[in-house]
Amino acid sequence: MIRALKLDRIHPAVWAAVVAIVAVATPARAQDAAVAVGDSLFNGKQMGACWACHGKKGVGTAAAPKLADKTWLTIDGSLASVKGAITAGVPKPKKSKTPMPPMGGAKLTPEQIDALAAYVVSISAAGK
Ligand code: HEC
Repeated sequence: MIRALKLDRIHPAVWAAVVAIVAVATPARAQDAAVAVGDSLFNGKQMGACWACHGKKGVGTAAAPKLADKTWLTIDGSLASVKGAITAGVPKPKKSKTPMPPMGGAKLTPEQIDALAAYVVSISAAGK
């Protein structure tokens, strides 16, 4: 017979270790998941997909700047500023002749905006 696991028998130090591991691993995993979702949105097929202007993986096109680098035109590159640019678009572009419409012209949920921002920050961090 399998005996019920007696939680009160687990040593407090073991609990502390479990709690610490979960606390460290969870945000990192959540971030990886957000980046993966952002990747599929950014490079995906739906209307207003970011790549249509920024190029696949944010390499840039004549219509919109490269995002896979550490140079920013209108924002400071923080997660919050990237979210802001995605949400509001860029009505007064610095270099491009035409503005970026809010959400790139798509309809995005707050979760999708978070994921896209996480993805943009990740490709910027990986770029130069
Ligand atoms: C219709 C074309 C278009 C689409 C679609 C588009 N963008 Fe943009 N994006 C632009 C333009 C134009 C700028 C402003 C460039 C400038 O300042 O000269 C810009 C700027 C940005 C910036 C700020 C870059 C900087 O260096 O300051 C971010 C971040 C960004 N876009 C992310 C996205 C994301 C994420 C998506 C998809 C939801 C997206 N864009 C869709 C055209 C587009």
